[in-house]
Amino acid sequence: MITPGVGKPKVVVVGGAGYVGSVLVPHLLSQNFAVTVVDNLRQGGEGMLPNFIHPDFHFVEADILESRKLKELSKGAEMVVNLAAIVGYPACKKWPEEARRTNVDGIHSLLGALEDSTRLVYFSTGSNYGEVPGICDEETPLNPLSLYGETKTQAEHLCMERQNSVALRFATAFGLSPRLRLDLMINDFTYQALVNRYLLVYERHFRRTFIHVHDMARVVSHIYHVWDRAVGMRLNVGHESLNLTKEDIARELQKKLDFHLYFADVGKDEDRRNYEVSYARIRGLGYSTVVDLDRGLGELLAGLRLVRIRNPYSNV
Ligand SMILES: NC(=O)c1ccc[n+]([C@@H]2O[C@H](COP(=O)([O-])OP(=O)(O)OC[C@H]3O[C@@H](n4cnc5c(N)ncnc54)[C@H](O)[C@@H]3O)[C@@H](O)[C@H]2O)c1
Repeated sequence: MITPGVGKPKVVVVGGAGYVGSVLVPHLLSQNFAVTVVDNLRQGGEGMLPNFIHPDFHFVEADILESRKLKELSKGAEMVVNLAAIVGYPACKKWPEEARRTNVDGIHSLLGALEDSTRLVYFSTGSNYGEVPGICDEETPLNPLSLYGETKTQAEHLCMERQNSVALRFATAFGLSPRLRLDLMINDFTYQALVNRYLLVYERHFRRTFIHVHDMARVVSHIYHVWDRAVGMRLNVGHESLNLTKEDIARELQKKLDFHLYFADVGKDEDRRNYEVSYARIRGLGYSTVVDLDRGLGELLAGLRLVRIRNPYSNV
């Protein structure tokens, strides 16, 4: 008889029940990792349901601040991936104390729980760059412009003071997940165009950078396999072909769907994200994304036609 999990590298995913985690966890299970998710279920747990059938999946309801529990759970783990956070500037603005507690104190708690030999992958964000002229690479100074960016920058710094860590600075995610987020720009544009048949875009020339959630999952197993080369690095994760203006995205959507598109100066992004990013460093480690905008929009349009969304902007 084969005992579940035996011989498989153990990965603990903190905050694994959310939008990204709900895609990352099945990916890791498919790549022969034994996976333990630790999450306080702030965003619910439905995204985890398909995993319970898997003998190498474990779920523990706990808060990132419960350092003792994290210590117990991460004992013997090859890798810990931290996703737990209050995510996005609107949510951090609404719950500032919780944002500081989770995004920064939570990292102190996690770092106190880890054995030196455990690899730590920290989910950081390109939002930390702020508004940058020219092209950002990993040496570009961080200039966070919101509480979200500030707390994520502090947390990244804390993680990278540790020897055995990698920080992944992700582009903005898009795509379907069992725990859907419609506050993400491409998901939001698609949903509005589909349901309302019109879309109003502000800051149309602002350039942002995107990554499909499936590619966010893929990079984690990739980094595990190239750990000796990646350790100690901060890495932008995305692809130059997905450095796009808001107008680019809306126009691309118009090729697939009939809706009214308007441009007007009626809002602003408090992270003032208007930047272009180089992904040369992660490419140098042999990783590239596989989902382009065309495929991602096709997926969103097909999926969003099916689901009944009760609270489209649940993150805020
Ligand atoms: N989605 C993106 O575009 C994007 C881009 C760059 C980086 N990231 C980073 O990726 C990570 C995951 O983002 P997401 O989009 O899946 O967000 P999400 O809000 O869907 O997921 C966050 C998860 O963390 C959990 N959580 C929150 N507070 C917790 C606490 N105190 N203890 C334990 N668990 C807690 C939530 O319950 C949720 O399951 C975040 O760290 C985010 O900063 C996301």
